[in-house]
Amino acid sequence: MPTKVEKDSITGRETTGHQWDGLKELNTPLPKWWLYVFYACIAFAIVWAIIYPSIPMTGARGLSGWTARGAIGPELEAERQSREPMLAKLRAATPAQIAADPAMRAYALAGGRIAFANNCAGCHGSGGQGAAGGFPSLADDDWLYGGSFEAIHGTIAHGVRNGADADARGIAMPRFLADGLLTAPQVNDVAEHLLGFTGRATDAAAAERGAAVFAENCASCHGEKGEGNREMGAPRLNDQVWLYGGDKASILRSVGYARAGVMPDWAGKLDPAIINMLTVYVHALGGGE
Ligand code: HEC
Ligand code: HEC
Repeated sequence: MPTKVEKDSITGRETTGHQWDGLKELNTPLPKWWLYVFYACIAFAIVWAIIYPSIPMTGARGLSGWTARGAIGPELEAERQSREPMLAKLRAATPAQIAADPAMRAYALAGGRIAFANNCAGCHGSGGQGAAGGFPSLADDDWLYGGSFEAIHGTIAHGVRNGADADARGIAMPRFLADGLLTAPQVNDVAEHLLGFTGRATDAAAAERGAAVFAENCASCHGEKGEGNREMGAPRLNDQVWLYGGDKASILRSVGYARAGVMPDWAGKLDPAIINMLTVYVHALGGGE
């Protein structure tokens, strides 16, 4: 505790009365100008917090009612207006017409890329390269439902097995083992037969027996030689492209328990112009027919 105020003999200043081991502290107050700026800042902050949104002082609005969204609203509206003529054209045209018109095509590819990143890349990969577990590549010429403009447009608009859109694509494959349609040895035989399509069968006798199982149970959907069927979305089985894996364990699981890939329908969720742009974009990824 300071007991008495004394003056420092060298500087002539008052001391605060504190001392440590004989060292005395001089009383040097903040400069006045500094102090007033400091008070002004505090006053400014209080006024600001009342006028502009600041939780918990005045909630999300503030007295002035200013919002960031409101501030950018006119800009967004102007942006939308400037795009509207092109969007109207993209809505009215078919994807094939868009692709044939250089200006519309360039616009659709740029916009389609962004719409794809926003809505599709999570499942199909950022470049449409697909992902393990049943998400097909859209950048190759191996199509489940077809790679024409109309086919791609139909798939995007209605989706696959989503139970929400009556025109959704894809039928269900039977669960051959789970539902007792085939025995485990039969499933093994037919798996060997499928491996045989690409010269990978390890048990020739089983593959031979599997051919009969295949003709009877699978060819109606997957085709006599496993060439696939786009009407049903039954994948081609005689190539190296697999939705769920082409090793024997994956095939055994596909045949025994069936797979049912699901894709949402986008008609009604995305602007028809955007669906057209996506169609042109996907068509241009590499496999368009
Ligand atoms: C929730 C995941 C998911 C999302 C999101 C998704 N898809 Fe799909 N998509 C799938 C699945 C799964 C399939 C394959 C369905 C099957 O097994 O038959 C598929 C199939 C397709 C096909 C058919 C490919 C072929 O070979 O015929 C196209 C085209 C397609 N998607 C485009 C899109 C586009 C464009 C978007 C974004 C607007 C999109 N998808 C969003 C999961 C998704
Ligand atoms: C009713 C039609 C139908 C029948 C019959 C059928 N399948 Fe399928 N199969 C499909 C469909 C549709 C898919 C695609 C499922 C998906 O995309 O999610 C499929 C997928 C598969 C796959 C996965 C392919 C991949 O790329 O990963 C295999 C393997 C397969 N079937 C084998 C068979 C075998 C073997 C039989 C006969 C024992 C058979 N299927 C019978 C419709 C059928």
